[in-house]
Amino acid sequence: MSVNPRKILVTGGAGYIGSQTVRLLLAQGYDVAVVDDLSKGHRHNVPAGKLYELNLCNGSALSELMRQMRFDAVIHFAAFIAVGESMREPARYFGNNVVGSLSLLKAMAETGPRHIVFSSTAAVYGEPPESPIREDFPIRPVNPYGESKVMVETMLRWFDEIHHITSVCLRYFNASGADPEGRLGEEHEPETHLIPLVLRAVMTGEPITIFGQDYETPDGTCIRDYIHVDDLAQAHILALEYLIAGGESDQFNVGTGTGHTVMEVVRAVEEVTGKKVPYVIGPRRAGDSPALVAASNKLRTALGWKPQYADLRTIVDHAWKFARRGRR
Ligand code: UFG
Repeated sequence: MSVNPRKILVTGGAGYIGSQTVRLLLAQGYDVAVVDDLSKGHRHNVPAGKLYELNLCNGSALSELMRQMRFDAVIHFAAFIAVGESMREPARYFGNNVVGSLSLLKAMAETGPRHIVFSSTAAVYGEPPESPIREDFPIRPVNPYGESKVMVETMLRWFDEIHHITSVCLRYFNASGADPEGRLGEEHEPETHLIPLVLRAVMTGEPITIFGQDYETPDGTCIRDYIHVDDLAQAHILALEYLIAGGESDQFNVGTGTGHTVMEVVRAVEEVTGKKVPYVIGPRRAGDSPALVAASNKLRTALGWKPQYADLRTIVDHAWKFARRGRR
C-alpha cells in the first residue's frame, strides 16, 4: 500500500470476526487501532500495541481517542451476539448494541471519519418466507438481538442523510472456521455455535444434542449457510475500499449461497477428524428457522467478493486445527 496507509478504527477487534479482519487489514498494509472493552473479546487476539481497552458507551473517551488518531474509516463489530440471551435480557442488548453504536456514530460525526462498515446479521430477516434470502426481503427480526441490529441499520441511514457518513451493512449468515493456520478462532463463552460444539463432542466424548430431526429438509435437520470467517473478513475490506472510493451506502448478505444440514456438518467433522461424533437427537430449539441460506450475488457483483474457502470440509478443517490448539 501507499506511503501513507489508511487509518482504520476496528471496534470489537478482539473478538472472533473482528480479530480475523484486523489480521487481514494489517497484512494488506492498513494502519489499525482496536477499541474493545474485552467483555467478550480476548487480549491475545490483538497484536501488541493496537488495543485500546474502552467501552463504546464512554462517549467522551471515544471522541478523544478518535480526535487524536484521525481515522479514515471505521469497521464496527463490537456487540453482543447471543440470540437466546437477548430474549431473556433485552435491555443488555439494546444498551450495548444500540447505545454503543449511537455513541460511536456521534463520535464519528464530531471527529471526522465518514465511512463505516457495520456487522449486521441474517437475523434482521427473522423467519423469511423462502430461501435463498435476498437483501430486499422484509426486515422482520424475531428477537432483540436482530432488532438491535435493525435499529443500528436505521441510524446509519439517517447519519448518511444528515452527516454524510456512508455505510455498508454486512448481514452475516453462519460465521465459522478459523484462520487457515488455526491461530484465531471461536472462543465464545458459553459456546452455542454448531461447529465448535461438534468438535468439542469429538474431543470430550460428551454427545452434542441436535436440535430437531423433523424439519422439512432432506435429512430432517436445519439448513444453514456456513461462511468461512476469512471470507467474511475479506468482505469487510472490500466494503471499506468501496466506501473510501466513493461508493454509496448499501446492505449486503454475506453467505456462500449454499446450505448444509446439521447432519452434513456432523459428517464433515467425522471425515476431517477421522472420529465418530457422539450425538443425541433432541427437540427443536425455539426460534430456529428450517433453512437460512443467503442469496450472495449482490456482494459478488457489486464488490467483486468471491469466497476462497466455500467448501464445508475446509471450514471444519480450519476450525479443527484451532480447536486442537486447546486454548479454551
Ligand atoms: N445446533 C444444534 N445443536 C447445537 C447447536 C446448534 O443442533 O448444540 C443447530 C441449530 O439448531 C441450527 C444450526 O445448528 O440449526 C446452527 O446453529 P448455530 O447456533 O450455530 O447458529 P444459528 O443459525 O442459530 O445462528 C447464527 C448466528 C446468529 C445469527 C443467526 C442468523 O450465530 O448470531 O445465525 O441467522 F443471528
